[in-house]
Amino acid sequence: MQTILITGASDGIGAEIARQLAHSNKQQVQLILAARQLERLQAVATSCKSLGAQVLVVPTDVSDPEACRQLIAQAVAHFGGLDVLINNAGISAHALFSEVAAQDLAWYENLMRVNLWGSVWCTHAALPYLQQRQGRIVAVSSLAGLVGVPGRTAYSATKFAMTGFFEALRTELLGTGVSVTTAYPGVVDTQIRYHGYNAKGQAAGVSGLKEDGAMSVKTCAALIIEGMTLREREVVMTFKGKIGRFLKLIAPSLVERLAWAAVKKET
Ligand SMILES: NC(=O)c1ccc[n+]([C@@H]2O[C@H](COP(=O)([O-])OP(=O)(O)OC[C@H]3O[C@@H](n4cnc5c(N)ncnc54)[C@H](OP(=O)(O)O)[C@@H]3O)[C@@H](O)[C@H]2O)c1
Repeated sequence: MQTILITGASDGIGAEIARQLAHSNKQQVQLILAARQLERLQAVATSCKSLGAQVLVVPTDVSDPEACRQLIAQAVAHFGGLDVLINNAGISAHALFSEVAAQDLAWYENLMRVNLWGSVWCTHAALPYLQQRQGRIVAVSSLAGLVGVPGRTAYSATKFAMTGFFEALRTELLGTGVSVTTAYPGVVDTQIRYHGYNAKGQAAGVSGLKEDGAMSVKTCAALIIEGMTLREREVVMTFKGKIGRFLKLIAPSLVERLAWAAVKKET
């Protein structure tokens, strides 16, 4: 029996990871589902329960450090321990830096609080329990955490920060039995870009990226689960993502042009 906590489980990739874990586990799985929107979490929980999982729903805003500590405490109190923490909660943003007014820059900090600090706070609180069970940590970064993407200064900064934090932590945990898997999805077919921030820090309502050819949520979730199960260091998604990081070393100007090509013309 595995006890698995997923942040950002009310929608998109996190919700799909929960459903696939509930579906695929021959042994019953214990899931802790965290995000801010209770009703959406409950809908995901109902699907997972119907597939045989035991589920605890914990409404949580990961931008609040005390809420992150309470989340882990409630999970451990309810299920008696923790095997896997999946740091998936995240928000997106799309704006050219020059278009962001000085008085609006505060949303850069909000984005960092959710994407980086939410992961740091949850991981810090969970680590003693994960060490007891030689558990697994998963961090959902982004290809924008490997290559800087135009219009994504804030988002790329948060995802590069995740990349660095979890790479350092992986090394610190060598020999403890706890693995750290960082996932780097490309463009995945969810609503993240539509309710991510625009230059004013409001819900954008549109996507700034080319959405054709987006990876399905099902495929993305399955790749993350596979990486977690095999304790892979990294799950780099898409062919472009795989070659892009090596190309960056030898032909950085080409990678910069490719990064612009991923952005819609009007940006
Ligand atoms: N979709 C992509 O193309 C893509 C690509 C690369 C990386 N990623 C990463 O994958 C992860 C999941 O993205 P997604 O596409 O599935 O996005 P999504 O469909 O918008 O889901 C995001 C999830 O994060 C939760 N969340 C947002 N702010 C939160 C907060 N302050 N506290 C707790 N939960 C919060 C949301 O729930 P509530 O609103 O209920 O809080 C929701 O469950 C993110 O880290 C994202 O950066 C996505």
